Amino acid sequence: SLVRHYKLSVVLKNTTKLCTTKSIVIVNGQFPGPTLYAREDDTVVVRVTNHVKYNVTIHWHGIKQIQTGWADGPAYVTQCPIQPGQSFVYNFTITGQRGTLLWHAHITWLRATVHGAIVILPKRGIPYPFPKPDKEKIIILGEWWKSDVEAVINQASISGLPPNISDAHTINGHPGQVPGCTSQGYTLHVESGKTYLLRIINAALNDELFFKIAGHKLTVVEADASYVKPFEIDTIFLSPGQTTNVLLTSNQIVGKYLIAVTPFMDAPIGFDNVTSFATLRYKNTRQPYPKTILTTIPALNATPLTFHFIDSLRSLNSKDYPTRVPLTVDHSLFFVITVGLNPCDTCLQGIKLVSAINNITFVMPTTSLLEAHYYKIKGAFTDDFPAYPPVAFNYTGTQPANIQTNNGTRLYRLSFNSTVQIVLQGTAMIAPENHPFHLHGYNFFVVGQGLGNFDPLKDPLSFNLVDPVERNTIGVPNAGWVAIRFRADNPGIWFLHCHLEVHTTWGLKMAFIVDNGNGPNETLPPPPNDLPRC
Ligand code: C2O
Repeated sequence: SLVRHYKLSVVLKNTTKLCTTKSIVIVNGQFPGPTLYAREDDTVVVRVTNHVKYNVTIHWHGIKQIQTGWADGPAYVTQCPIQPGQSFVYNFTITGQRGTLLWHAHITWLRATVHGAIVILPKRGIPYPFPKPDKEKIIILGEWWKSDVEAVINQASISGLPPNISDAHTINGHPGQVPGCTSQGYTLHVESGKTYLLRIINAALNDELFFKIAGHKLTVVEADASYVKPFEIDTIFLSPGQTTNVLLTSNQIVGKYLIAVTPFMDAPIGFDNVTSFATLRYKNTRQPYPKTILTTIPALNATPLTFHFIDSLRSLNSKDYPTRVPLTVDHSLFFVITVGLNPCDTCLQGIKLVSAINNITFVMPTTSLLEAHYYKIKGAFTDDFPAYPPVAFNYTGTQPANIQTNNGTRLYRLSFNSTVQIVLQGTAMIAPENHPFHLHGYNFFVVGQGLGNFDPLKDPLSFNLVDPVERNTIGVPNAGWVAIRFRADNPGIWFLHCHLEVHTTWGLKMAFIVDNGNGPNETLPPPPNDLPRC
């Protein structure tokens, strides 16, 4: 194994897209930012230097950070932010995972433009568990606002209402066509008769996305840096924070084919129906160019497509890649996700949209939770996060009369090595939406999912404890539920939140404290010397 050194410089740069120029925060002058390459077992050392006027942190989304919780990155959870002019060295070893992940800023809404790919190759000499592709390509999906993204969120926090939706989706930084502004769009060049591994990343802030290529099937081989049993499909579905590797074989008539990236909203209330297009182009396509071959576009509310995709994902569970799903459960949690309305003195209408788990709207502290935990500093948080909602109600029926939530910086304590099951129950209140939940510090197994209210007697009988997919981000269906399991074998403070950034802003987040174990490899080491101060 190697030590790989990277330097990420956070800078401001004037950038023109959609026929408008604005100054954006990016890394090393690139949007999307640079790709970090490593092999499984390598140590990655990244010096992040902040040259902008905003506070910054970087999160290595999906990296398990075993014993390196100080390097995880969420602001005020595992670290104080890197202040303007300062730098911090993130140092972690990649253990037991290989595939595609992403890194992104983890403070305010900076990740809109501060993100990039992480490619983890298998250990040297170890092949992929699928036919070797001829070439690999990274495809990063994003969202683009013509206006300043920090202004968009600030405006939303003043109004108490949802933020303006983005003006376009980007594919490797290229927006597709939007009315009034012609743009080239991204072109994926392929040679006839070859197989490509596409490493697809949803780095969007607030939009779940479908991805499809006209005339070509995709073979899914990996999700969130875990191998899956290969299957063929037309349309793949990614929530923000999710990654999917697919094999694409260029076995069609030489020509040009449309690539469509289109949002999913099961109960559209905004109208984000901007489809972005890119082109798959075979080399030696004859001149003059033939017409691009088109494809049908998934409907905005194509819920069956999302279920079909998610249901098709199964972990390999082979001799080389066993599936270690916990068969027993020490902590059984039932998290009900709601959107509510709380009073707000500074908001225009006197109220604001908030979101909650078990009626707790999480309030960010102004110091680092991990430091408070490590140094036993009192007052930053309490460890009484409720395992169940305070009152049971018909979660997928009509909403209760009182939808005010309680604020709190409340965490849930897990003892080292305990096994955890969380049933995340979606509701259909105010803003009915699928919520992509992301857990830091672990992968979890998705053991079940369904529509309606979770039935604690019946539903566990059909849990998949054999080959459930292993992920770090999973959608909680609108008016449905999903059940996940993991073993809490990594000490630290680990954030759990909706990866739709607007919902995180509204408080749809909480954190786990995982205590130290007793062995030498079970204890969180002291923080690095250059850990930023608040
Ligand atoms: Cu990708 Cu806490 O985030």
